[in-house]
Amino acid sequence: MRIVFFGPNGSGKGTQAERIKNALQIPHISTGDLLRAAVKAATPLGLKAKEVMAAGQLVSDEMVLGMLEDRLREPDARKGFILDGYPRNLAQCTALEALLARLNQPLDVAIKLDVPDSAILARCELRFKTEHRPDDDPAIVRKRLDIYREQTAPVAEHFEQIGKLRHVDGVGDVDEVSRRIFAALPLQSNTEVAR
Ligand code: AP5
Repeated sequence: MRIVFFGPNGSGKGTQAERIKNALQIPHISTGDLLRAAVKAATPLGLKAKEVMAAGQLVSDEMVLGMLEDRLREPDARKGFILDGYPRNLAQCTALEALLARLNQPLDVAIKLDVPDSAILARCELRFKTEHRPDDDPAIVRKRLDIYREQTAPVAEHFEQIGKLRHVDGVGDVDEVSRRIFAALPLQSNTEVAR
């Protein structure tokens, strides 16, 4: 199963991808996590990305695509994957479709977590207090939401047009949201789920 998790910052993509990956036995590939690891390791890519991420802006398409392609070529991604945080604009969407065509791994479904801004702001504020992620500063969260609306939301329209988008209500208990996601996945049978 090849899945894109889609939705605004703080909508629960990472939380839910970690749960679904265990059930489907496929890797969770988060471009945000890959970039944060590069920042922490102070790699050349991480050094370039650090300020951009702290300001809530998008890292350049070229840098993220190269990093993603390397990850998708690893053996564990051959049986499927959950992509979280990519694509984030229409150029990345086009690049992803071309890359997946080259890898002969077409996407099965895009799951969009619907969460209102008020809940996003509350979640990120809480995380800012506990984890101190620089881009969870409330002013930066608002900027990230603006970028989501301007650049990322059109990608959902594209997935809708090609019949691959599934909307999932992302508000409520984490277990309940996971159940909604399972119900939205195009699973052939329960044997795909190692629960
Ligand atoms: P990235 O890490 O992708 O951040 P994001 O998409 O903005 O997502 P978040 O991690 O904030 O939220 P999430 O939806 O994963 O929710 P989570 O599960 O964490 O990207 C960070 C930055 O990297 C970008 O701004 C950009 O600079 C760069 N970047 C990444 N990808 C890029 C790309 N493709 N191109 C260019 N730049 C890129 O949950 C959030 C919080 O809510 C948590 O505390 C969680 O515990 C809580 N929570 C989760 N579910 C629930 C629930 N049901 N009820 C209550 N609380 C909940």
